[in-house]
Amino acid sequence: MVKISEDFILQLKGLCDIVSVISSYVDLKSSGKNKKCSCPFHSEKTPSMVIYEDTQSFYCFGCGVGGDIITFIEKIENLSYVDAVKFLADRAGLAVPTSELDDKISKQRSRILKMNKIAAKFFFNNLRSDVGRFGREYFAKRGLSKDIIIRFGLGYADDSWDSLKNHLKSNGFSFEEMCEADLVLKSKKGSYYDKFRNRVIFPIIDIKGNVIGFGGRVLDDSKPKYLNSSDTPVFKKSLGLYALNFAKNSGSKTLILCEGYMDVISMHQNGFNNAIAALGTSLTESQVRLISRNSSDVVIVFDSDKAGSIAMDRAYKMFLDIGVRPKALRLKGAKDPDEYIKKYGASRMKVLIDQSKSAIKIKIDTIEEKYNLEDVEQRKDYINEYCLIISNIVDSLEREVYIGELCKKMKLTREIVTNHVDYLLKKKRKKYNKKIDRELIKNVKLEYAAKNMHSKYDRAEQGIIRFLYNNPDYINYLSEKFDENWFDSDLHKKIYKTIVDKINYGSSLDFVAFHSVLDVDEMGIFSKIVNEGRNYANTNRELDDYICVVKEKYDEKYEDISSMTLEQIEQRRKQNAQKKR
Ligand code: UTP
Ligand code: MN
Repeated sequence: MVKISEDFILQLKGLCDIVSVISSYVDLKSSGKNKKCSCPFHSEKTPSMVIYEDTQSFYCFGCGVGGDIITFIEKIENLSYVDAVKFLADRAGLAVPTSELDDKISKQRSRILKMNKIAAKFFFNNLRSDVGRFGREYFAKRGLSKDIIIRFGLGYADDSWDSLKNHLKSNGFSFEEMCEADLVLKSKKGSYYDKFRNRVIFPIIDIKGNVIGFGGRVLDDSKPKYLNSSDTPVFKKSLGLYALNFAKNSGSKTLILCEGYMDVISMHQNGFNNAIAALGTSLTESQVRLISRNSSDVVIVFDSDKAGSIAMDRAYKMFLDIGVRPKALRLKGAKDPDEYIKKYGASRMKVLIDQSKSAIKIKIDTIEEKYNLEDVEQRKDYINEYCLIISNIVDSLEREVYIGELCKKMKLTREIVTNHVDYLLKKKRKKYNKKIDRELIKNVKLEYAAKNMHSKYDRAEQGIIRFLYNNPDYINYLSEKFDENWFDSDLHKKIYKTIVDKINYGSSLDFVAFHSVLDVDEMGIFSKIVNEGRNYANTNRELDDYICVVKEKYDEKYEDISSMTLEQIEQRRKQNAQKKR
């Protein structure tokens, strides 16, 4: 675990006001003396995240995420603690004392990045040498120019089990390191061999220009078509976007979201420098957010097959959920953007993109083709599906406009349609609430969520913690009247002990002090305890009550077993085990 001095972090936090940093990610509204916003960590329509300026912390009452500005950056940028500190330091124009970053993990990362770079170069050079003939032929067949091959650093892994392995070895890397980078695999018998063989290679480059992973495509029809790097310490498939490094600097505010590597490359070759794709997975929520942060407009151009239209259905709803209205287009006469450009040319593609309509409108047009509106039954199904689509629209005014369109088209009264859409919305909301429950359990520490969060005992334990946090001078009072072993929750005990330590050492009680003892999930609980209901429990009478409740529970748990029969003891043991679960 790396140590960055608390002094430095406190100085940094002084420069990164939580309100101004968070407001660069989400819109904030005032709520009393605090700020409020829709939580960026789970989908929701009414704001349940509160930002507390005085404690420089936040807490989401919907999903339990919380902490200070560093926790916020860890979560939203998907960074480790150290990288989040670095990120904020960059933003504030401070240099993190470098010796303090020399920890094992960042060393391992930079080794992997170095290895990836060498591997990319190796694949790239292969493509130009004798062994690369098949790769060259393949790219030529796909119509890629020399220029674009260089721009994307495309390469070729020859048909050998050990050529990259040997090359990396001669560059001083160990087999273990090669496996950590997922460039070399270990067989059951314990021998090492190249992961990518006889494939054309697409290096995946992040916005800083690092090679973070690879995709490799077969030259024929064998399976799997693409092999991708698994997640490594430098690569998280679900977080990045292919070609965002170029698209970000394309000068366009629009991003064109395609399905595949080849589509993106083909688009870039034809002047669409703002094309991107997910990385060998279906689109994730993090990627959708990343797109919305890097563009003001997104056009989805997926494959025209069944899989493409299913993916499109999923994608446009994901965008709507975070309040982005995506545009989309359907390709006719070609299976994907790559083929479309080859068949009809870039200028026709440009027209399509310029004229792309909102994804909602496209969806509505599609169902119109599906149903025969002369048929009564099908008319009904059409109306229902139309309403289903518009129930995804968050903006009520926009929904009204579409309702109007449907009424006009199908000669229906406004009341009937509005009622039906409302009914669908309600149904959706129910489903959505269930999803929130699931997310809650996922986000908040299981141990904590499974228990009744608002049980009298939990409230009392948290009350003691909150009291001490806000009234450090009560430390002596508490040390006389209270024993930390009375805590039922290990987490509460850990938090309490940390506060006591800090007070005894005269250190600051800023959230910074808790990062080394609490993980990001536990930070949320800590933030809740500290911030929630700060206005009550400020007299020691209330403190005494809390202590009583906690003690009572403790006594009950450890009541004298000498007078019990063996059966009673066994039964008590079972009960306790059940409570623990
Ligand atoms: P496609 O099958 O549409 O491939 O998969 P493509 O990119 O159009 O490639 P070509 O035109 O056939 O050469 C779309 C994306 O899904 C991921 C890859 O990221 C691919 O670009 N994928 C597909 C995989 O990761 N593995 C596979 O086996 C197939
Ligand atoms: Mn394709």
